[in-house]
Amino acid sequence: MALLDKHKILEKNVTLLAIFAFLVVTIGGIVQIAPLFWLENTIEDVEGMRPYSPLELTGRDIYVREGCYTCHSQMIRPMRDEVERYGHYSLAAESQYDHPFQWGSKRAGPDLARVGGRYSDEWHVDHLNDPQSVVPESLMPKYAFLADRLIDGQYVGDLLKTHRFVGVPYTDEMIENAVADFKVQIDPFGDYDAMLERYPGAQVRNFDNQPGVSEMDALIAYLQMLGTLVDFSTFTPVASR
Ligand code: HEC
Repeated sequence: MALLDKHKILEKNVTLLAIFAFLVVTIGGIVQIAPLFWLENTIEDVEGMRPYSPLELTGRDIYVREGCYTCHSQMIRPMRDEVERYGHYSLAAESQYDHPFQWGSKRAGPDLARVGGRYSDEWHVDHLNDPQSVVPESLMPKYAFLADRLIDGQYVGDLLKTHRFVGVPYTDEMIENAVADFKVQIDPFGDYDAMLERYPGAQVRNFDNQPGVSEMDALIAYLQMLGTLVDFSTFTPVASR
């Protein structure tokens, strides 16, 4: 009990207590943080993940601008009810090119991490125009104006550059071709082979079925790719390989 008696000294001297408390917190902090500096990468690489195509990235910007994240999360937790409802739990690699990430903290609506391919483009157009027309009890606001806002992708190269600045591996070639790739993704008659080589698995079609690239096209292109890049029929996590 001699050691416990010594503890009294700390309890009675506030300066000593502060110094020792600081030491303990520092050691705890170092133990948690320091390994991250030496690990090559804290994200396990997963086949299929690639940076967003220019049109998808534009759609993602609209998603952020409209605050969709205030009602929708994009992270499926590894719990049975979530996995049964939404599909495979989210992997760190799936948000690896997200700046900022869109995990969200509130679910007034469903999780969207794997919404890609779950509905048709027409459904998304109807739903964004007037959510209550397809889901009568929905409390989601209308976003019909997105269809009227045509965009030419003039600054999409700069957008890619900005994302490269924060670590997304966009190549010079991707940045040079950004505007063309942006436009060709909604043009099924266009020359989109080079775009697909740069962004494998990108979906090429006129998403809102109206002439020109609208914000609606970009947003639906983004929604339809969410959760579709990793093939979960062949994926095994490192720990169980
Ligand atoms: C005020 C909260 C709110 C906001 C903001 C909101 N949503 Fe929703 N969203 C909902 C609710 C509630 C549902 C479920 C009912 C429905 O399908 O409309 C939903 C459903 C959805 C679905 C269908 C998901 C599924 O699996 O059935 C998609 C896709 C979607 N929202 C996209 C968006 C996008 C894109 C935005 C931003 C432009 C957005 N939402 C903004 C509340 C919201």
